[in-house]
Amino acid sequence: MSSPILVIGALGNVGTEVVRQILARGGKVRAADMDVNKLRERFGEAVEAVRFDFTDPSTFDETFKGVKRMFYMRPPHITNIQRDMAPSMDAAKRAGVTHVVFLSLIGIENTTYVPHYKVETYLKAINMQTTFLRCSFFMQNLNTTHRREIKERNEIFVPVGKAKTAFIDARDIGAVAAVTLLEDGHAGMNYDLTGSQRLDYWEVASIMSEILGRRITYRNPNPLHFLIETMRRGTPFMFALVMTGLYTSTRFGMAEPITDEVERLTGISPITFRQYVTDYEDARK
Ligand SMILES: NC(=O)c1ccc[n+]([C@@H]2O[C@H](COP(=O)([O-])OP(=O)(O)OC[C@H]3O[C@@H](n4cnc5c(N)ncnc54)[C@H](OP(=O)(O)O)[C@@H]3O)[C@@H](O)[C@H]2O)c1
Repeated sequence: MSSPILVIGALGNVGTEVVRQILARGGKVRAADMDVNKLRERFGEAVEAVRFDFTDPSTFDETFKGVKRMFYMRPPHITNIQRDMAPSMDAAKRAGVTHVVFLSLIGIENTTYVPHYKVETYLKAINMQTTFLRCSFFMQNLNTTHRREIKERNEIFVPVGKAKTAFIDARDIGAVAAVTLLEDGHAGMNYDLTGSQRLDYWEVASIMSEILGRRITYRNPNPLHFLIETMRRGTPFMFALVMTGLYTSTRFGMAEPITDEVERLTGISPITFRQYVTDYEDARK
């Protein structure tokens, strides 16, 4: 029997799309996340569902057994990579996983303080074959991290000034991940993934206002105000700090460059921001 492709974080924004895209291309998937019932609800019989917890080694054997290739990601709240992620990377290596496609960040070379840098370095140190998908900001942040402020206050609260962002749709990342897991030739490669347009947050707010039929405004706090307010709204300190750091890099233009990797690797033009807002309209009601 051919070995399944393992998708870690299969219930996440990107993981879900990775599963869907592998299945659509005829691949066999083992979907791993904390809640097996939710995995079954979402994917039915189409996947093998396993419970996996980065911090519970008793879940590792069933997760990694018989796997050669896997999609790997870091849940946003995990910041201690050595303690909370290294054990699962070691277990994967021991079980015979050879190729890891890791969900990383664009510009990681200049943002070595972020946890993804430590994951990339660790995977290399244990001699995994790697493909790093270094992604720009997800469009889906606007229906997850920023959902509440948009829904309840009709505002987008990010500290990025006039800078533009080359947002990417998580569905495009899923498609690239599927290609790099199913086809040969991607081991050792790093791909900088962005959408095809760069927008500032006034443009984001304007497109959302037009499609959603109500006025969404961009509030442009300074980074310190953003950090304090984000924590006051309930985000843990370390998570709020990483967010502030990333948005501050954006403020200095780091998220502006556009690449053509999505189209080159999948043969399809990236999803536009306008299309994303239309497709996710229900998430904002
Ligand atoms: N957002 C962006 O703009 C952006 C851009 C580039 C890179 N990234 C990176 O992308 C990653 C996030 O991807 P995403 O948005 O797809 O993630 P996500 O939607 O937050 O999904 C994370 C998944 O991991 C699960 N999980 C949480 N704790 C776990 C544990 N201990 N063991 C196993 N699974 C666990 C979560 O389950 P629960 O929901 O039950 O907790 C969830 O299903 C982060 O590393 C982020 O830095 C993000």
